[in-house]
Amino acid sequence: MANDTDTVAWDVADGIAWLRFNRPDKRNAMSPTLNRAMMDALDELEFRPDVGVLVLSGEGSAWTAGMDLKEYFRETEAEGLKGTRKAQRESYGWWRRLRWYQKPTIAMVNGWCFGGGYGPLFACDLAFCANEAKFGLSEINWGILPGGGATKVAVELMPFRKAMYHAMLGEPIDGRTACDWGLVNESLPLSGLKARVTAVAQALLAKNPVALKATKDAVRRVGLMAYDEAEDYLVRAQEAANSFDNTGRKEGIRQFIDEKSYKPGLGAYDK
Ligand code: ACO
Repeated sequence: MANDTDTVAWDVADGIAWLRFNRPDKRNAMSPTLNRAMMDALDELEFRPDVGVLVLSGEGSAWTAGMDLKEYFRETEAEGLKGTRKAQRESYGWWRRLRWYQKPTIAMVNGWCFGGGYGPLFACDLAFCANEAKFGLSEINWGILPGGGATKVAVELMPFRKAMYHAMLGEPIDGRTACDWGLVNESLPLSGLKARVTAVAQALLAKNPVALKATKDAVRRVGLMAYDEAEDYLVRAQEAANSFDNTGRKEGIRQFIDEKSYKPGLGAYDK
């Protein structure tokens, strides 16, 4: 099944939802229309039984060139504060939705990734990019600070000195540097990017989906907790997960201890 609106495209194949920014002529800049279409697409895909992993990529030469300077900034500001706040709610809204998405998510950064693009980049659980991609906090180049969460993303993902340099200089960095600085998990040639992302998605599809949702939320949550709070949260999160699926872990133990059909240190049990 496929969908193709003016600004967002997606299709589903073999358990993977391939969701794409789809304004290649505008380097996939995020307009209010695109932001609304992304929220609709996330709604549509989140609980579908044939979707186990969501991959976010871009059509053409860009992942996303960030916020649309004309449609997101100039045109909404012309409507006054009401227009600005609405545009912010719509963009931040789908990034937040993506951060806490039910299914595992992967950013597949095929090209340009600027400014506001760091919101969905951080929202995805994992990120893989092309060596040919270019990342930048370009806000300083047109006279603003990196807002919309972009500064927070830089500080969360990068060492302090890298984040400060990146934000203050506004110089684009290539995929390998983005990987060295912590923005993505891996950088590889564009020609091999989709195959690598597909392999990672397939590995995720083989794992227990309830445990994956509990795990990805836990990784995001515990960073803000002291040790004892984290310890307590993780006990409760596992016990809550058990109310969704209390057979998976027992089966995982059984296949290892009794059946001896796999080794958890080396791979996932057979669902
Ligand atoms: N907002 C609005 N329009 C954009 C944006 C954007 N962020 N990015 C590209 N476009 C438009 C261009 O205006 C151009 O439109 P036109 O064909 O009607 O003239 C079209 O997309 C193609 O852009 P080019 O600049 O011609 O493409 P090129 O491949 O040469 O360069 C690049 C790509 C480097 C991404 C360049 O377009 C660029 O610098 N874009 C802005 C990046 C940026 O700073 N984004 C804002 C970050 S800050 C924030 O998000 C809050």
